Amino acid sequence: MTPVHLAGPRLAMREVEPEDTDDLLAVYGDPEATRHLSFEPRTREQVQAITDRSIAAANASPRTEYCLAITRLGEHRLIGYARLATEPQEAATIGFALHQAEWGKGLGTETVHLLCALGFNVLGLHRIWAARSPLNKASARTLLRAGMTEDGRIRDHVFVRGAWRDSITYSILEHEWAPIDGLDTTSALDRSAAPPGGETVPGR
Ligand SMILES: CC(C)(COP(=O)(O)OP(=O)(O)OC[C@H]1O[C@@H](n2cnc3c(N)ncnc32)[C@H](O)[C@@H]1OP(=O)(O)O)[C@@H](O)C(=O)NCCC(=O)NCCS
Repeated sequence: MTPVHLAGPRLAMREVEPEDTDDLLAVYGDPEATRHLSFEPRTREQVQAITDRSIAAANASPRTEYCLAITRLGEHRLIGYARLATEPQEAATIGFALHQAEWGKGLGTETVHLLCALGFNVLGLHRIWAARSPLNKASARTLLRAGMTEDGRIRDHVFVRGAWRDSITYSILEHEWAPIDGLDTTSALDRSAAPPGGETVPGR
């Protein structure tokens, strides 16, 4: 496994570690942060399983899932969780969540840009897409702000909280993505923390 290290102006993404469970629980166990997600607040045991699965996915070959810890640049503590899962036809779906204390500072937008950097720059994908709850206004604004286009609606996409729920979908194509200012995907900032063989993202 070649660990992924992504750096943006204020955020970084790194591989998930067993020690991330409590910080991830602060996000995935929070009723407010999970209000519009496709699952109910997670227990510690469930979050532990997510941590374990994230680490297993990182070691799978070929790797199709990138479940990454979001941190502040230069810091180690997990403040959010991001996932990119590849699909056939050079595509991937993304998902992300930040700790409530970090909302409203532009970090959600930066998160989507970092996932685009991973998908387009590192993995050479053509299309990245995301789905949100129809009620998730923050996600709607964040996906548009990052340059994605609303595609449409998947009816009865997920069964959650005892009912079927539609999703609104968004996508962005490789030639449409315009990285935010200061998104330095060639940054070696995390290299010192990376295990031997760790890679930073090559420039576009
Ligand atoms: C979605 C989420 C990542 C957004 O993170 P964030 O750091 O607050 O987003 P940003 O600060 O980058 O804001 C991006 C845009 O969303 C808008 N926005 C943020 N929160 C909002 C809210 N509650 N209602 C309406 N708009 C909101 C911002 O004003 C900004 O829009 P603008 O640039 O047009 O002014 C965060 O709310 C979150 O983690 N939510 C819980 C998990 C989740 O819903 N994930 C998405 C699953 S699809």
